[in-house]
Order: sequence, then C-alpha cells, then structure tokens
Amino acid sequence: MIIAVDGPAASGKGTISKALAKHYHLPHLDTGLLYRAVAHTVQRLELDPTREADAVAACDFDELTLADPALRDDEIGKLASVVSAHPLVRAALLQRQKRFANQEGGAVLDGRDIGTVIAPAADAKLFVRATPTIRARRRHAELQARGAPTTFDQVLADIRARDQRDSSRSTAPLVPAPDAALLDTSFLSIEASVEKAIALVEARRHKS
Ligand code: C5P
Repeated sequence: MIIAVDGPAASGKGTISKALAKHYHLPHLDTGLLYRAVAHTVQRLELDPTREADAVAACDFDELTLADPALRDDEIGKLASVVSAHPLVRAALLQRQKRFANQEGGAVLDGRDIGTVIAPAADAKLFVRATPTIRARRRHAELQARGAPTTFDQVLADIRARDQRDSSRSTAPLVPAPDAALLDTSFLSIEASVEKAIALVEARRHKS
C-alpha cells in the first residue's frame, strides 16, 4: 500500500506520516529532507539558490547530509522552498522518490507533490492542513524549545511566504490532489489527528 501525505509547513503531516508508517509497518520518506539537503549543500558551497544550475549541482549531495540536524533549521526550510521551485531540481530528485514509493510492500511519503506527481496512483492520499496562525504557533513553540531566537510574528510571516512560494510555483505546486482526503488539524490533538488519518486511510483503501 502506498500512502501519500501532502500539506504545508507545520500542518502536522510529518507526525501523521510517521504514525501511519508505524501503524501499517511501512517505510517512511520525509521528502522535504531531500530539498533541505539540497538547500544545505547550496549554502555550504556558497552557491546561489536562485540560480537553477547552482541548485541542480547541489542535488548530488552527500548522503550523510540527510542525517545532519542543521537540516531542521528554519533558515534551511526557507532556502529549501527557493531551490525546490526550480523544475530541474525537482526532476533530479524525482526518480529517487518514485523508487521509494514503488518499493515492494509499499511506503508512506510526505511532502508537497506526493499525491499529484510522485505517487499519483497511491492507495490513499491525505492533504493535511491547518490555519497559518495555528501552524505558526506550533512552529514558534518548537523553535523556542530549541532555543532559537525568533518572534511569533516572524514565524507567521515566514510561513505565509513559504505557503505563497510553494503554492504559486509552476512545477508541482502545493495543491491537494483531486482525490485526496482533506484533514484539518487546526483544532485536533496529535492523537486525534493520527486517529482521523488512520480512519481516512482505512476508508480509502477499502474503496479501491
Ligand atoms: O516539508 P519541509 O518543510 O521539510 O519542506 C521544505 C521545503 O521543501 C518546502 O517548503 C517545499 O518548498 C519543499 N518541498 C517540495 N516538495 C516536497 C517536499 C518539500 O517542494 N515534496
């Protein structure tokens, strides 16, 4: 079974995907990490993230980069949304994600274009969302807990800018697949969100 989970930053899609992978005993790929690894490599090599050729050169990143905790930084998230808008960057990372999705036994993948581009024939597709204010509150709390110096207003502005960039790019924009089940986590606890996600996957897989 292939489960595709898409949604904007801090919507809860990562937590939900990990829980789904555990529940169904499936391998999980956080595809955002791939774009973050490209962003981190661009930064490390002092390349220009707005230049497509520079960003493509960084797609050949060292696999060890994927385990670097620095990938979680907000700055890298922002940079990831800049490099991910280049069509050739998306093309460079496409096969790797498709291979993961189509491995024997299935997989759970989360990102922005899983249900639309990477695994259009997924058995279950979820689009996870929450209001920008609530997502900013979650992200702000997370950053504060890590000791990062930032204000709520700054986090909210960043979230809005990232949403705008991810939704308006011409290649693989952040949009729900027409057959995705929508899951709004704005007023749900983590446990309730996971429960609902499992119920939605169950409903979808028995339909096909
Ligand atoms: O999900 P995460 O915040 O780690 O993703 C970082 C950035 O990578 C996103 O803002 C988005 O621009 C990009 N991304 C993407 N397609 C994916 C996953 C992430 O464009 N499948």
